[in-house]
Parts: sequence; C-alpha cells; structure tokens
Amino acid sequence: MKQYYHLLTYGCQMNVADSETIAGILEEKGYSYTDELTTADLIFVITCAVRDNAEQKIYGKLGELVKLKESKPHMILGIGGCMTQQDEIAKRIYQRFPGMNIVFGTDNLHKLSQDLDIIIEESKRIMDVHEITGNIYDDLPKTHTERHRAFVNINFGCNNFCTYCIVPHVRGQERSRSIKSIKNEVARLAANGYKEVTLLGQNVNSFGSDSDNDTNFVKLLKNLIEIEEIKRIRFMTSHPKDMSLELIQLVRDEEKMCKHIHLPLQSGSSKILNKMNRKYDQDKYLNLARYIRKEIPQATITTDIIVGFPGETEADFLETLRVVDEIKFDAAYTFAYSKRPGTRAACYENQVSEDEKKSRLYKLIDRVNMYMEISNKSRLGQKISVMVDGTSKKDNEVLSGRSDDNKLVHFRGDYKVGDIIELEVYDYSPHVLWGK
Ligand code: SAH
Ligand code: SF4
Ligand code: F3S
Repeated sequence: MKQYYHLLTYGCQMNVADSETIAGILEEKGYSYTDELTTADLIFVITCAVRDNAEQKIYGKLGELVKLKESKPHMILGIGGCMTQQDEIAKRIYQRFPGMNIVFGTDNLHKLSQDLDIIIEESKRIMDVHEITGNIYDDLPKTHTERHRAFVNINFGCNNFCTYCIVPHVRGQERSRSIKSIKNEVARLAANGYKEVTLLGQNVNSFGSDSDNDTNFVKLLKNLIEIEEIKRIRFMTSHPKDMSLELIQLVRDEEKMCKHIHLPLQSGSSKILNKMNRKYDQDKYLNLARYIRKEIPQATITTDIIVGFPGETEADFLETLRVVDEIKFDAAYTFAYSKRPGTRAACYENQVSEDEKKSRLYKLIDRVNMYMEISNKSRLGQKISVMVDGTSKKDNEVLSGRSDDNKLVHFRGDYKVGDIIELEVYDYSPHVLWGK
C-alpha cells in the first residue's frame, strides 16, 4: 500500500532546504508527498527557535498532531530542526509527547533513513540529537518543491554570535561547501530545466573563509554565471561587515545577478550594534547602502530590524528610524527582541518592557510600510522582468511571479511556470505590483 508523507516546515530557508533533503530521503524510501495532514502516514515537523513566538506556535501544532495520531495509531510522527537541536527542549518534547516516534536535530539528516528503519522494524522510539560535527553531507537526495527555481546551500552554520541570536548555537560553526560541488549541483539543476537559484547561507559573504583555498563568494558567483541555462541568481543573507564592493559591482555588471540585496540592519544605533556584536556601526552600514543605491539605482534593498534589544533607549530607536528614513528600504522584516536562553543578550540588564517593544515595533512597521508603498509606486509605468511562479494564492485566474528585484507581481495571461517575461506595471498596492 502506498505510504504518504507530509512536512511542516517553520523558520528560514535553511529549514526549507533541509526539508527538501528530508523529502528526497523519504521518496527514496518509497513515500509519496501528500498535501493533507489527514492522509499522511508520516509527518515530520521541522522547527525554528529564532524567537519565542515561533516556538509557541510549534508547541500548539504538536498538540494537534498528537490528537490526529490518536485516530491513526500507525502514523509516524517526527520532529527535527533548530528547536530540537537544543538538548533540553529535545528531552522535554520526547517526554511530553509519547506519540512522537523520533526527535532529531539539524546535523543528522544523513542518519534519518537508518533511524526510520529502526522505528518501523523494531517499533522503537528514537531520540537522535547529537553535537554538531561540522561535517557537510553533499550527497543526500533532494526533492525540490518547485521545478523552475531552487535553493542551494553554499555554507552552513554561523560564526558570528550576534548576542541575541540562537542560530550559531543550533546550526554550529560556519562551514563552506566547495565551489566544485556547488557548481555540479547547479549544473544538474540547469540540466533538469531549472532557471533560477537562490544561494543560501547565514552569511554568504564569508563563503570560503573557512577553507584553505583562495576562494570567496565572488569567485563562486563567477563560476555559476557561466552555466548557460541558469538565467537568474539570488543570494541570502549578506552580513554588512563582510559585504565587499566587488560583490556589489558584480551584481551591477552581470545580467544574471538579480538586482536585490538583503542587508540586515538590525539596529540603527551604533551603541546597540556594538552590544549586538554586529561588528559594524551606523556609518559603515549607511556607506554600504549608499554605495548600492548609487551603483545600482534600480536595485531593491531589503532588511531585518530588531526593536527593543536590551538597553535600547528611545534615542537609540530614533537612530534606527533615521537609517530607515535615509535608505528607504524597499521592504523590511521587523521583530521585537525575543530573549533566547543560552545567548549572551538573554543575561543583559535593562531588558525593554513588552509594552515598549510593541509600541516601537508598531511605529517602525508604519514607517517601513510607507517606504514599501513608495517603492512600489515608483515602479508604475516601468517595464519589469518577471519569472512566472504559478497562480496567485487568492485567485487562480491570476498569475504570480517575482521581478528581478524580488517584488511580488500579479498578472494575467497564458504563460507557463518558469517563463521569464516582460511586463509593464499598471497598478500597485503596498505588497503587490500589477503588470500587463
Ligand atoms: N543570518 C541571517 C538571519 C538570521 S535569523 C542574518 O544574520 O541576518 C533572521 C532574523 O531574525 C535576524 O536577521 C534578526 O533580525 C531576527 N532575530 C534573530 N534573533 C532574534 C531574537 N532573539 N529576537 C528577535 N529577532 C531576532
Ligand atoms: Fe544570527 Fe548573526 Fe549569525 Fe545572522 S549573522 S545567523 S543574526 S549570529
Ligand atoms: Fe529558525 Fe533555525 Fe532558521 S532557528 S531562522 S530555522 S536557522
């Protein structure tokens, strides 16, 4: 009898990429994907620990899954990812949810297939979370969710230890793949009809700095640009401390390089940036963003901002708004600081009250939305290059895609997924451009 799997993936593109590997492993074992939880024989939850609200949402979901399993006892439930890479949380979940067949971490996907055999053949429960080894498993199978664009990991882990951030604790030391292995993977994708790749790392700019060879991110990009069938290259995330002018020039000069740079600001106050251990100050950030605006005027700059980091005063917050006002980000992800056990900032004094965080967050969101709308409005009447991704979520008569500069675009017409078309923008809202 056919067996079905479903994956619930939370968090960032790292988890999306891990889920594609898990899907590949499961399909190799004979499972087929199902959209619905109720028809699944196996469900894995891939978790995120970056903020407390992410974790709370996941606990809610686990309760639901355990209920579902009561009516379907043969179902296999598993949980992995960044939350369960933390020992205490893994143990708590293992004890609190006896219906959970396997609890795993971020660094043992290569053992998943074997673990599943043990669960099925020996009816055992498994807790398989181990210390992050720093190994790279390049050769695991992958099932991509789309057929025209794919995520490709280029480096794993993170060495930066921003004081608010759990990621280095759950994803381990930074380690880069080799250019050769990445190029092979992208060439394989190209041969299978893929046209766009998004290169992923917590800090793509430091790609290669952990290897003995004379390698860096720009060299990698130059190698990938050579692959004829790949028409668009994106990357995420850039750390301002490591972003080179050479990279900006490459994005400016190469048609295949998408004109979008995600450059997390985190805070506009140099004092707070220092306490965050970001290793740049307001000036350095502004100079970098100004250079991008000057060299690639058509590029979008997007960012991540945290409000309410411990010790953030009203004056510090105003510095953040000052940077937002100058750079006029085309879009921004905004967060209220969330205390993460085990990180340095969790022990800092002068934690900001929840009310104050909320009030600053709302002010920031208003400001950011205003610039997002201005950015979209500025595209009116312009020609843009869009790759067709599928139908819009709300209306399947409408097609949806991303412009070269990463704006969401809606349009109508007779196009295929993966087509790259030219549209003229005739309308906009804060979040969508309409093209014809
Ligand atoms: N490596 C990337 C992304 C890290 S996580 C980077 O350095 O930008 C994504 C975003 O979550 C971060 O950029 C940060 O803005 C936010 N974030 C991380 N930890 C947080 C915390 N404890 N509280 C609130 N936001 C946080
Ligand atoms: Fe977290 Fe900083 Fe690393 Fe990004 S660079 S993952 S924010 S520690
Ligand atoms: Fe979350 Fe892990 Fe990504 S903590 S943001 S899923 S690296």
